[in-house]
Amino acid sequence: MHSCCARKIIVWSLCLIFSLSHSILVCGSSPPKHLCRQDQRNALWEFKSEFPLSGMAADEKTQTWRNNSDCCSWDGITCDPKTGNVAELNLWGSSLNGPLRSSSGLFKLQHLQILDLSSNNLAGILPDSIGDLKYLRVLGLSGCNLFGKLPSSLGNLSDLTVLELDGNGFTGELPVSLGNLKQLTKLLVASSKLSGNFHHALLNLTELTAINLVSNQLEGTLPSNMSSLSKLEYFDIGSNLFSGFVPSSLFMIPSLIHLKLERNHFNSLLEIGNISSPSKLQTLSLGGNRLSGPIPGFISKLVELSSLDLSFWDTLRGDVDLSIFLHLKSLTSLDISTLNTRSIVDMSLFSHFESLSILSLSRNTVKFSSTLHLVSPIGSLAVASCNISEFPKFLRTQTSLFYLDISQNQIKGQVPAWLWSLPGLAYVDFSLNSFTGFDGPADVFQRNEIYLLDISSNAFQDPFPLLPKSITFLSASDNQFSGEILKTICELDSLETLVLSNNNFSGSIPRCFEKFNTKLTVLHLQNNRLSGEFPEESVSIGLISLDVGHNQLSGEFPKSLMNCTGLEFLNVEENKFNDTFPFWLRVLPGLQFLVLRSNEFHGPIYSPEGSINFPKLRIFDISKNLFSGALPSDYFSGWSEMSSGVYTPDNKQKRFIGIGFSNYVKSVVLANKGLEMKLLGEEATINKDKEEDQVLSWIAAGIAYVPGVFCGFTIGHILTSYRHDWFKRIFHYFS
Ligand SMILES: *[C@@H]1O[C@H](CO)[C@@H](O)[C@H](O)[C@H]1NC(C)=O
Ligand SMILES: *[C@@H]1O[C@H](CO)[C@@H](O)[C@H](O)[C@H]1NC(C)=O
Ligand SMILES: *[C@@H]1O[C@H](CO)[C@@H](O)[C@H](O)[C@H]1NC(C)=O
Ligand SMILES: *[C@@H]1O[C@H](CO)[C@@H](O)[C@H](O)[C@H]1NC(C)=O
Ligand SMILES: *[C@@H]1O[C@H](CO)[C@@H](O)[C@H](O)[C@H]1NC(C)=O
Ligand SMILES: *[C@@H]1O[C@H](CO)[C@@H](O)[C@H](O)[C@H]1NC(C)=O
Ligand SMILES: *[C@@H]1O[C@H](CO)[C@@H](O)[C@H](O)[C@H]1NC(C)=O
Ligand SMILES: *[C@@H]1O[C@H](CO)[C@@H](O)[C@H](O)[C@H]1NC(C)=O
Ligand SMILES: *[C@@H]1O[C@H](CO)[C@@H](O)[C@H](O)[C@H]1NC(C)=O
Repeated sequence: MHSCCARKIIVWSLCLIFSLSHSILVCGSSPPKHLCRQDQRNALWEFKSEFPLSGMAADEKTQTWRNNSDCCSWDGITCDPKTGNVAELNLWGSSLNGPLRSSSGLFKLQHLQILDLSSNNLAGILPDSIGDLKYLRVLGLSGCNLFGKLPSSLGNLSDLTVLELDGNGFTGELPVSLGNLKQLTKLLVASSKLSGNFHHALLNLTELTAINLVSNQLEGTLPSNMSSLSKLEYFDIGSNLFSGFVPSSLFMIPSLIHLKLERNHFNSLLEIGNISSPSKLQTLSLGGNRLSGPIPGFISKLVELSSLDLSFWDTLRGDVDLSIFLHLKSLTSLDISTLNTRSIVDMSLFSHFESLSILSLSRNTVKFSSTLHLVSPIGSLAVASCNISEFPKFLRTQTSLFYLDISQNQIKGQVPAWLWSLPGLAYVDFSLNSFTGFDGPADVFQRNEIYLLDISSNAFQDPFPLLPKSITFLSASDNQFSGEILKTICELDSLETLVLSNNNFSGSIPRCFEKFNTKLTVLHLQNNRLSGEFPEESVSIGLISLDVGHNQLSGEFPKSLMNCTGLEFLNVEENKFNDTFPFWLRVLPGLQFLVLRSNEFHGPIYSPEGSINFPKLRIFDISKNLFSGALPSDYFSGWSEMSSGVYTPDNKQKRFIGIGFSNYVKSVVLANKGLEMKLLGEEATINKDKEEDQVLSWIAAGIAYVPGVFCGFTIGHILTSYRHDWFKRIFHYFS
C-alpha cells in the first residue's frame, strides 16, 4: 500500500518540480531536447558499471543506456531542462545487484532531486555519501536489502520531502539529525529492525503528513505532547515495543485520518474529554496491546471511523457498553475479539450498519437471534470460541461471505448444505466443534472455490467429502474417518498443506503427492493405520514437514526425500521401516527434527567415510531400532545447533523457523537415555502474540514493496503456510 502511495507521490512531486522550474513545461510532455552534461553522463556510466549486468532480466533499465547518446534520454533519467543536470534517477525494480559504494558514481550526480532505487538488491549499508546529494527532495530505497545504521548525514538533506526506506534491515536508532529535515512530509521506515525510542527531534518535523514505522523494534513511550505534528494524516507504529500511555494529544491532531498503534505494549489510554474539532479519524487500531479497564466512551464520537480494532482489550471481566459502536455508522471493519467481558455480544447490534464487511467477535460470548438479519453484506466473520451451539442461520443470506471462522464452539450435527450456496466462500474453519458430517450429497461443495478448509477436531465420520480442486489447505485431523485415503485427493490442483492425522485411515499412502512438486509443504498422516511402503511417488520435493509416525508402514525409507531440500521436520516414529541409517539425509541443510524411533532400522549410524553433520538439528531420536556398531565420541561435533545451547522463545531467528508447521505438530514422543517424554508442539512454548508479530513483519518486509504482487499470490501463500486465524489481521493490515 505504502509503495503505491509513494509512487504516486514521486510522480506527483516530479510534475511539481518541473512545473515550478519551467512553468510552460506540461507534465508528461516529451523529454527536453538538449544534451546532458558530460560529467553527469560519466557519473551515470560509472554507476552503471558498478553493477554486473546479468543480461537476462528484461527490467534492467541501465542495459538500454548507450554511451554515445544523450543521457537525458536514457531510460530512468530526467534532466533539468534548463541546466541539463540529471535531476531524477528512477531505477525502480531494475535488477541492480550489489552494494552501494561510498565512492559510487551516484554521489557525483550532485543535482539529483529525485532518487528512486527501490526494489533492487543493494545488499549492504547506506553510505554516508547519501548526504552529499544536497538537493534531494525524494529518496526512495524501499525493499533494497540495505542494513546497518541509517547514516546521520541524511539530516543534511534539508530539501527532503519524502524519505521512503520501507522493508530493509536497518538497525540502530533513527538518527536524531532527521530532526533537521524541516520540509519532510513522509517518513516511511516500515519493516526494518530499528530500535531505540521515538525521538523528540521528530516533533520538529511539523510538515509531516505520514509517519510509518510499523514492524520495527522501537520501544519506550511516545512524547506526551505530539500536537506539533499538526499536519499528520497517517501515523502507523504498529508491531513495535512501545509502552506506557497512548498520548491523548494524538487524538487532538485535527488532520489525523489513520492511527495505527496495534501490537505494542501500550497499557493505558486516557479518557479524552471533548475532542476539540470534529475528528477525521477513519482508522483506529489499538488491538494487541496491554490496555485494560472499561472501553472509553469517547470512541463513540469518532464518527468517521471506518476501521476499529480493539481486540485483546482486557475489560477484566467487566461490562462493555456495546451501544458506543452504534454511533459509528461508517464502520467497515470492527475487531472486538477477546475483550474478556461478561457482556454478551448480541449480533442484532450490527443489524443496521450499512457497510460493515469485516467483523471479528472471537472469544466473546455471542448471541444470534433466530430472526437476525444484517443489512450490510459481511465478507469476513470470525466468531471463534463464542459459545455458539447452533449453526448461525442468518448466514444463509450473506452472499458476500468469503471468510468464516466458527472454530472452538459447541456446534453439533451436520454442516448445512445451504452454506455452499454462498458463491464467494473461500476460507472456512469449523475446527474444534462436534460436527459429524456434511449435509447433502457427497459432492455438495466440490464445485465451490474453497482454498482453506479446516474441519479438524470434530466428530466427522465417513464418507470423506469430495473436495473442490481449488483447495490449498486441508486439515481433517482428529476425526473418525476411516477406509483408504480417497484417490480424489490426487486430483486436486494446488494442495499445499494436507493434515489427516489422528483418524482411522487404512490402506496405502496415495502414490501421487509427487505431482504437487514444490507446492505441497506439509504432509501429516500420523496416527492412522496406513500400511505398505512409503512410495517414492508420494514425496513432493517442496516438503517442509513430513509426519507419518504411528502407522504400519514398512519397507525401505524413500530416498527421494533427499531431494526435499527445504525439509525441516521428519517424523516416522512407530512404524516398521526396515532400512539402514539414512546417511543421505545429511544433504538436507535445514533439517531440525529427525525422529526414526521405534522402527526396524539397522546397521551402523557411524560412517567412517565422511562425518555426518546436521548443522540445524535440534531433535534427534533413533531409539528402539536395531542399530549397531561404534559411536565415536566426536560424533555430534558438527551438529552446531544441537550444541549451541537452549532453545529460547526470545531467540527470534529460531522461533521464526518453526512457524511453518507449529499449528500441526501435536506432539512427538522422545526417548532420552531410556526415559520417554512427550514434547508438545512449539505452540506450547511460544507466546502467540509475539510469534504473530514476527510473521507480520516478515510479511511486510516481503511484499510491501512489490506493489500488485500481494493480492495475486501472497494471500494464498500466507494462509497455507501460517496459522490461518492470522488471516484477518493480515487482510486488515493491507486493506
Ligand atoms: C563514454 O564516453 C566518454 C566520452 O564521451 C568516455 O570518456 C568514456 O570513457 C566512455 N565510457 C565508456 C565506458 O565507454
Ligand atoms: C553532513 O552530515 C555530517 C554528519 O551529520 C556532518 O558531519 C557534516 O558536516 C554535514 N555536512 C554538511 C555539508 O552539512
Ligand atoms: C527543534 O527545532 C528548534 C528550532 O528550530 C531547535 O532549537 C531544536 O534544537 C530542535 N530540536 C531538536 C530536538 O532537534
Ligand atoms: C504542546 O506543544 C505545543 C507546541 O508544539 C504547544 O503550543 C502546546 O502548548 C503544548 N501543549 C501542552 C499541553 O503542553
Ligand atoms: C463537552 O462539551 C459539551 C458540549 O458540547 C459540554 O456540555 C461539556 O461540559 C464538555 N465537557 C468537557 C469535559 O469539557
Ligand atoms: C453457553 O451457552 C449455553 C447454552 O448454549 C449456556 O447455558 C451457557 O450459560 C453459556 N455460557 C456462557 C459463558 O455464556
Ligand atoms: C478403524 O477401522 C476399522 C476397520 O477398518 C475398525 O474395525 C475399527 O473399529 C476402527 N477403529 C476405530 C477406533 O474407529
Ligand atoms: C532427485 O531429483 C533428480 C532430478 O529431478 C532425479 O534425477 C533423482 O532421481 C532424484 N533423486 C531421488 C533419490 O529421487
Ligand atoms: C529387513 O529386511 C531384510 C531383507 O529385506 C530381512 O532379511 C530382515 O528380516 C528384515 N528385518 C526385519 C526386522 O523384519
